[in-house]
Amino acid sequence: MNSDGLIDLRSDTVTEPSSAMRKVMLNAKVGDDVYGEDPTVNRLEAVLAQMTGMESGLFMPSGTQSNLVALLSHCARGDEYIVGQQAHTYKYEGGGAAALGAIVPQPLDFNEAGELDLAMVKAAIKPADHHFANTRLLALENTMQGKVLSIDYIKSAVQFCAQHKLAIHLDGARAFNAAVASGVTIAQVVGGFDSVSICLSKGLGAPVGSVLLGSKEFIHTAHRWRKITGGGMRQAGILAAAGLYALENNVERLAEDHQNAERLAQGLQALGFKVAPVYSNMVYVDCSNLDTKKLQTTVLRMGVKISSSDHLRLVTHLGITEQDVDTTISAFKAYSTAYFQ
Ligand SMILES: Cc1ncc(COP(=O)(O)O)c(C=O)c1O
Repeated sequence: MNSDGLIDLRSDTVTEPSSAMRKVMLNAKVGDDVYGEDPTVNRLEAVLAQMTGMESGLFMPSGTQSNLVALLSHCARGDEYIVGQQAHTYKYEGGGAAALGAIVPQPLDFNEAGELDLAMVKAAIKPADHHFANTRLLALENTMQGKVLSIDYIKSAVQFCAQHKLAIHLDGARAFNAAVASGVTIAQVVGGFDSVSICLSKGLGAPVGSVLLGSKEFIHTAHRWRKITGGGMRQAGILAAAGLYALENNVERLAEDHQNAERLAQGLQALGFKVAPVYSNMVYVDCSNLDTKKLQTTVLRMGVKISSSDHLRLVTHLGITEQDVDTTISAFKAYSTAYFQ
């Protein structure tokens, strides 16, 4: 439950820093990070680089900026990147790559597993001909709307990109959820990618921040784009300290969020709601035949905050306990009792 007393299931971005996290933020050693002199930022970048097996990291204010800087670093004006139709990078980041970098998106539909079919990707790569944009990059997302990419798929996508001379970027906003859900290390989840953006401000519970990771050379380029896009922060160690705390304390516990999501899905299914299979911390409920506004107001009366959507997403996170899940099921029951036949 959040400090407003509500069980907020709209997203894992609503998590609030715990008092222990706030304490490390308060006591963080800081310096001017634009001069590269903030010891806590430097430590966060080094720790995450070491955990992921990447050479270098770069702390960013947000996942949107981290993805944007990655795209700007991989692609020049008029270059093309292949991306999912529903990918955050393409659909939910204001078209930043096109607006600011003149980078041409080539969106493709995801398959049921949240993957981009590599035969379709191959067919979308443009020939080397002046009529076409230069296809430079493939961007994947993991987890993708809660779906976890298999390690086999990741390996074949990495191999495919090497074969076709494409760079490969991962929007790994929830890459730690993917690692915990598949019982593998974060290094395995991001293995072979040229760049990965990891968010600290989602299930990991930090108030703000993402880290872009890649080779030393790539991060050198990204550093310039971070400056250009206004992401150079000064005494950012206060924020990085929250990220370090999150990496030390909040990774393994993501398993609880996944268990809670499964419990919620089973409870709603038993009430007659149409629920998609759960892979990590997201539960999708088909509300196309329901009065979503009425559902939203009914559950809010019992302290449960949800979005109003035909394709309702409920997200579990460190502010949601097993008891909160049971309260949510009861709140949905109040709706189903009143409105189901
Ligand atoms: C998959 C994914 N990528 C990137 C982002 C962007 O992160 P931010 O909100 O920090 O810009 C989000 C945000 O919810 C996301 O869900």
